[in-house]
Parts: sequence; structure tokens; C-alpha cells
Amino acid sequence: MPRVHLSLDPAFTIGPVRRRLFGGFVEHLGRHVYDGIHEPNHPTADEQGFRQDVIELVKELGVTTIRYPGGNFVSGYNWEDGVGPVDQRPRRLDLAWHATETNQVGLHEFSHWLDQVGSDLMLAVNLGTRGTKEAIELLEYTNVPGGTTRSEERKANGRERPFDVRMWCLGNEMDGPWQLGHRNAVDYGKLASRTAKAMRQIDPDIDLVACGSSGRGMPTFGAWEREVLEQTYDDVDYISCHAYYEEKDGDLVSFLSSGIDMDQFIRSVVETADHVKAARKSDKTIEISFDEWNVWYITDWEAQQKTYTIDEWPIAPRQLEDIYSVADAVAFGGLMITLLNHADRVASASLAQLVNVIAPIMTEPNGPAWRQTTFFPFSLTSQLAQGQALKVAIDGDTIDTPVYGAVPVVDAAATTDGERTSVFLINRSTDAATTVTLDLGRLGASATGSVSAQGIWDDDVHAKNTLEDTERVGLRTNDTATFEDGTLTIELPATSWTAVTIG
Ligand code: AHR
Repeated sequence: MPRVHLSLDPAFTIGPVRRRLFGGFVEHLGRHVYDGIHEPNHPTADEQGFRQDVIELVKELGVTTIRYPGGNFVSGYNWEDGVGPVDQRPRRLDLAWHATETNQVGLHEFSHWLDQVGSDLMLAVNLGTRGTKEAIELLEYTNVPGGTTRSEERKANGRERPFDVRMWCLGNEMDGPWQLGHRNAVDYGKLASRTAKAMRQIDPDIDLVACGSSGRGMPTFGAWEREVLEQTYDDVDYISCHAYYEEKDGDLVSFLSSGIDMDQFIRSVVETADHVKAARKSDKTIEISFDEWNVWYITDWEAQQKTYTIDEWPIAPRQLEDIYSVADAVAFGGLMITLLNHADRVASASLAQLVNVIAPIMTEPNGPAWRQTTFFPFSLTSQLAQGQALKVAIDGDTIDTPVYGAVPVVDAAATTDGERTSVFLINRSTDAATTVTLDLGRLGASATGSVSAQGIWDDDVHAKNTLEDTERVGLRTNDTATFEDGTLTIELPATSWTAVTIG
């Protein structure tokens, strides 16, 4: 049986666990908004048409800031289409996802939904088909208290108080050839810089995100970040990262090690941002908004793409409705471990996405809403990761992976708030349980209470929750945890994700 020893010291901190690390993402895409969060004829719908059963699950998920309304969608979106009387709103072609956008949900309705789930709004502006003027008019609409055309328009539309949106994305994936308005790094950087300066002239205190690469595998990765930051360094706070992972060719052990790729991705972007910082002799440090991350079977999705005819523009079609397995949830939990281990520079992260579309929550029209397997590591990490992220020294067996070579068989992250310490673990071995020991001696007061462990694993790593069996997979208690002479010992099942709480 593989063995791993973990060491923690409360003095060795990475950084504070910022709540924005547990953000989400709602895009107008497929059945995410329409027939997902918004289904006026559903028995649980409120007076605005939002499903209360979905709201309850989103609350339970523990998602903080939510990025909206895209994604690729935002690069063709007119925000004005989504405000004003609902019955007078235009129906538009959504070129990103080849659908009809009815605009029945826009800024006001989405904000009403956010108030109910208790999350903050993070808005993306359209720098694809639009530009600085539309971005500053949107900011005037959302954040200026009153006395101007746009702010008075907001009031006339029923919202007296400003929306007071704090975090803004300057476009989406502008490096991607698929993106409406795609451009090169220097052109995008100049546009982002102009737009950021103009936005700050309205509200100096907003947090601004420049688009990084849409993936580490993009041919322009690295150069894109450098060139964009050379144009925008003084104007923005964050550079974005996007990453999606999937099991390819049956290579489960590499898939379970996806956190290694994410770790290298983050390190590269930090190094690039710090290179620009050094070259500019700047005191300012750019942080990362990892505003799209998840497991996504993108290869299957790309293979299913077809050529549409001119009259094929469906409303809320079923798109990107991945059904996640236990193995997916373990890889997903591993990605959360990597995010926590970079809490010093990853200030914000958005799980992409929330409902129906590559989502932890699924719904059926006029039917139930349920938790996918990935729901569980997200909700438990969001709930337990508090205070400071701690460095975890990992000493023990490794495992061979086709993609990453030899990697530690267990990966881990830890947090402490002084009273409670939480340790998050994945066992990447697909065929052997791993024994983990953790010396708690240095944790002092936070190691004197009880120890509990919950996680996700199954004899069938491909088990899923489906409409037919919505509760096939759930959190399980790991009762192998013992605590003797200041040492915690736990056996992690093969292909598992576990959260241990001490105190
Ligand atoms: O999350 C799905 C899509 O993935 C988003 O719209 C886009 O930004 C990314 O390519």
C-alpha cells in the first residue's frame, strides 16, 4: 500500500483564503439561464420565474462571486437588450452558441436571483463587437447613484439603488479565433487599457480583469499575457486564466493529476506578470482571476459540432450538458487543491459553470433539480476552507502517469482559522488505497478537537447522478481516520477525494 507523510506548520502560510476563490459563472448558454435557473412554469418558480429548488442548491453549493453573462456569449451581447420592460425586449441571434437570445433575463432579473442565492455580481463587458463607450455606459447604469441619463434609466427600470458591481472582466477570451471580435494581444491590450481608464474615471475602486489566454495550450500563451500586461499593467488588477480538463484515451491517472497542469499554468502566468512588473520597475503586483475552470469533455463536444442552416436558431437548446462521474469529481477536487495552494496569487476563481451547462447542478424542465458528483468537493471545500492557506510538505510514494511522469500519489492543501484546520486530499492511485499520516503537533489549539473525514469515492469510478437516479453518488464518511500521539492516520481509497477537519 502506498504511504505518504504530510507536514504542516501554522507559521508557514501561503496567504488568506479569499472568498472570491469560490466563485461561479453563469453564461447565457444552452439551458443555463432559460430552463435552468429561470423556468416560469416550474412549480417552484417565484414571481419572476426563478426556480426556488435551484436557488436552494446554489446556496448549498456555497458559491460566492458569480461571473455573468459570458463567456463567448458576451462578445456579441448588447446589455441594453436585457433592461427595460421584459415584453418589449428584442430577440437576438446568439452567434457564439448559435441560438436565439430572448432577453427575458437581463441585469435586473439576474441581480434579483443573486440576491436570493446570496452571491455577488461580477460583470463582463463586450469588447468583441462593442467597445469603451458601451462599457462605460453600462458602468454608469450599474454604479452611478443617479442624476445622469443611464443611472436614471436604471431607476425608471425599478432599481433605485446602484447595483454597485465591484469586479469587471474586460472582454472574454479575446485571444481565441472563435471569439467575436478576436484580435491580437497588442490591439486587445490597447482597447482594454483605454476601456479600463475610462471605467476608472467613473468608479476608481472597481476591480478590473484583463483577458489572459483562453488556455495554456494556445499557441500565443505566454506572449499574450506579456503583451497584454505591457499595455494594461497600470490599469488592471488581475489577468485571467481559463482551463478545462477531461479524461482522454482512458488515461485516468493523468486525468486525476490535472492539478499539476493547473499548477504549472498558474506559475507561468505569475512569472510572466512578474516579468512585466520587473521590467516596468513597478511596485504593483498583478493577481490571477481564474475565471473559468472545470472538467469539460470538450473533445466530445467538438466532435458533435455540426453545420447549422440559416433558420436554425433554437431557444435554450441542450448544450454542453456533461454528466460527471466519481472520477471527474476526484479530478475536480484536485483542481480545487491546486487553487488553494496558490491562494497568494489566485485572488478569485469562477467554476464554469453552475446549472445544466458543464455544471454541478442539473435540472429537468418541470422536473427535479439535483447535485452532480462535482457538487460535493466544491461545497465542502467552500464550507471548510477558512482563514489562511498553509503550505503542505508532501513526502512519500509517487505514481507514474503517461502525461506528467512520476507525480506524488497524494496531493493535498490545508487551511486553518486558528480553531479549525482542514486538509483536502486526493489519492491519484487508481488501484490502491494510500495510507496518509499527518503530524498535528505544531498545530497547537487547532489540533486538540475532534477529527472527521468526508469524501467521494466508489467501487464504480464511473458512477454518476442522473435523472433516473439523482442520488446515486454522494459524500461518504471515511471512518479509517485515527488520532494518536499527535498524529492523524487515514486510509484514502483508490481514486478518491477527501476533506479532513480537525478541531
Ligand atoms: O464555459 C464555456 C465556454 O468556454 C465559455 O463561453 C468560453 O469563455 C470558454 O471557451
